[in-house]
Amino acid sequence: MRDSFEISSSSGSYPVVSGAGLLAELVAERPDAVFLVDARLEFRLPAAVAKRVVIEANEDNKSLERIPDIILKLREHGINRASHLVAVGGGVIQDIATFAASIYMRGIPWTYMPTTLLSMADSCVGGKSSINVIGYKNLVGNFYPPVQVLIDLDFVASLDSEQIVGGLYEAVKICYAMGKQEFLAYLSEASRPPISAFGAQRVVMRALRAKKWFIETDEFDQKERLLLNFGHTFGHALESGTGFGVSHGIAVGIGMLVAIEYARCRNWLSPIGTDVTNQLRDYVRSLLGEGANRVARCPPKINLARVNEKFNNDKKHRSDSYRMVVPWQDGALELVSEPRGESVRRDIAHAFESVFNEVGWSFLSD
Ligand SMILES: NC(=O)c1ccc[n+]([C@@H]2O[C@H](COP(=O)([O-])OP(=O)(O)OC[C@H]3O[C@@H](n4cnc5c(N)ncnc54)[C@H](O)[C@@H]3O)[C@@H](O)[C@H]2O)c1
Ligand SMILES: [Zn+2]
Repeated sequence: MRDSFEISSSSGSYPVVSGAGLLAELVAERPDAVFLVDARLEFRLPAAVAKRVVIEANEDNKSLERIPDIILKLREHGINRASHLVAVGGGVIQDIATFAASIYMRGIPWTYMPTTLLSMADSCVGGKSSINVIGYKNLVGNFYPPVQVLIDLDFVASLDSEQIVGGLYEAVKICYAMGKQEFLAYLSEASRPPISAFGAQRVVMRALRAKKWFIETDEFDQKERLLLNFGHTFGHALESGTGFGVSHGIAVGIGMLVAIEYARCRNWLSPIGTDVTNQLRDYVRSLLGEGANRVARCPPKINLARVNEKFNNDKKHRSDSYRMVVPWQDGALELVSEPRGESVRRDIAHAFESVFNEVGWSFLSD
């Protein structure tokens, strides 16, 4: 079943459509477009697609150093300002496409077709690109929304449980950020893997409609939209502190647990806040699974000092304070600043440690 809505942005509004069979329809509509596609999914492009740029979805390729290769390939295909670019892939392909489309001949129109649950439920709207520079994650970027987002649910079937759980973590993050009512509505649908195309559509469209509020209220990340960084400051530290041994979505789930634990240690939560964050904690933990049913691989041993160091150096902090999104009092999210200093660092390390113990991940403490 088709479902759609519009997102307004400063560069015009664009539709977000979900349903089955959208790739075939798009190719029939735009046979001349250049398709920027994840190498793993190239076999799904119909033979009618003549112009292809095939990219392996990894962090190295999502870098400023690799962008010139993409630009040259677009040129070899004869792409000009009247051409259309279509990106088919997850968040990595999206970041590359957003950036390349925005700078090629000062900008060409593009369509995004997200293929991971994470990119369907979260990153596909909002228009941001984040590009790595010589090993620094997401150091440069810009805003350049596509002219349409087409979510083809046929891509869901090939996702594994870890990819699904990562997407669900981003989805529940958005619904939690929206407020208690939206969070409880999300939980009542109890999304968990395995997930059908219809189940994916329900969770994806719920999360995107909630995200619409954030990006229309604060398109350029000045205030409200910053709350969507919930789980990310701690999550990025875990991703980079393990050399990307933990995937982005799983790191965000663990990062939300660390944020909750930090708020709990600081006594910031009222009884109502404790109750609502416990519900989020139980959901996040249950999706990780236990024993043989564990969904996410864990790096052999996490070096806590490295994770803390990455947290310490996060670009979102200020020179004199750490900035992080945490649940506050009755559980609503707040962006708080904590002074840089030994006691805060110790409490952050303690919050990571408790969560690793809670989920059964082994770590070195120094
Ligand atoms: N720009 C933004 O707003 C934004 C927001 C969130 C995340 N991101 C970025 O997105 C990236 C993470 O996104 P992601 O998890 O979608 O990553 P991804 O694009 O790396 O995809 C993850 C893996 O899934 C595979 N894959 C893609 N579609 C598949 C399908 N249908 N079936 C089976 N396998 C499939 C890919 O080949 C890859 O191996 C990170 O680099 C993150 O920084 C960007
Ligand atoms: Zn994210």
